[in-house]
Amino acid sequence: MSKQRIAVYPGSFDPVTNGHLDVIRRAAGIFDKVIVGVGRNVGKAPLFTTEERVSLIQVAVSELQNVEVESFDGMLVAFAKQHGASVLVKGLRAISDFEYEFQMALANRHLDPTVETMFLMTSAEYQFLSSSIVKEMVRVGGDCSPLVPSVVMDALRRSFDVNTSQER
Ligand code: PNS
Repeated sequence: MSKQRIAVYPGSFDPVTNGHLDVIRRAAGIFDKVIVGVGRNVGKAPLFTTEERVSLIQVAVSELQNVEVESFDGMLVAFAKQHGASVLVKGLRAISDFEYEFQMALANRHLDPTVETMFLMTSAEYQFLSSSIVKEMVRVGGDCSPLVPSVVMDALRRSFDVNTSQER
């Protein structure tokens, strides 16, 4: 039997958006197994806990048989290796992501040259979309329901209701 091709799709997913799901679906069509790795970006204070972020993605990808969701701490390349993955998949939006993602890909290659980073271009309709934009839209009362799975929309509404009532 030939070796399974396993990829890790890492991110902070705070929360997962339809742009992330588009990349997950496309990666799931290329690899035998895709592990969505929910990590911590030291530069960002998350709105949702790690457990919440994992469970929101689990609901959103439940129809994809070859996708698993797990959190990780520490080094991404070590997480990939533990799961038998030699590829990191990243989504790339035009221009804005390039410098950061290039730096991360080179840093990860420095840490483990046997783990390759592969970029999937974000679909045109999601070029502007990010978890931060979604949170900002909800915060100012905008409708972002076409941009996130319904389970995320519900979680965002609950979270911003709670935060707003706490402020009063
Ligand atoms: O969605 P994000 O915020 O761009 O995700 C960033 C994440 C969590 C993938 C990144 O910060 C990460 O890989 N963190 C783990 C630590 C690590 O291995 N860093 C890369 C080399 S320094």
